[in-house]
Amino acid sequence: MANSAQGKKVLFICLGNICRSPIAEAVFNHILEEQGLAGWEVDSGAIGSWHVGRGPDRRAVSTMKKHNVHMSHKARQLKKTDFNHYDYIFGMDHENISDIKDMAPKTYTASIELFGSYDPQKELLIRDPYYDDDDAGFEKCYEQCLRCSKGFLDSLAK
Ligand code: 4NP
Repeated sequence: MANSAQGKKVLFICLGNICRSPIAEAVFNHILEEQGLAGWEVDSGAIGSWHVGRGPDRRAVSTMKKHNVHMSHKARQLKKTDFNHYDYIFGMDHENISDIKDMAPKTYTASIELFGSYDPQKELLIRDPYYDDDDAGFEKCYEQCLRCSKGFLDSLAK
């Protein structure tokens, strides 16, 4: 059955915004399209500024190509105004969550959560594959993002 969740604003955050969060953004957009859901605003960003302006890691690009998921993103850093613009800011691991909270303004409306908390298989953390010497961690990240995207949308429809 089509998901009835109303459009929300969602921001995916990881450390560098070249591996996990652009994959999460791309996969989430893919699922929105698959489920015929419109009116969402989806973006991703980084804790750090190292890769600002660059496209995703080539292993993230090849993993998305393999699964026919469109990905188009240039890295950008999390900023204070994000906290009162987005409904949800999702981190990939506990360190992300702690860094996101450290960067927050005094008051904000976004809900800051681990994306993995929506995994029906209960795999809470989306591990950083950046320093791996192969693609396996990227494939695993894709699979987790797929499950979490569906899990999150299902949770809103309830
Ligand atoms: P991401 O992976 O947080 O999933 O994008 C990383 C990418 C780059 C770095 C760390 C993690 N870095 O240190 O440059």
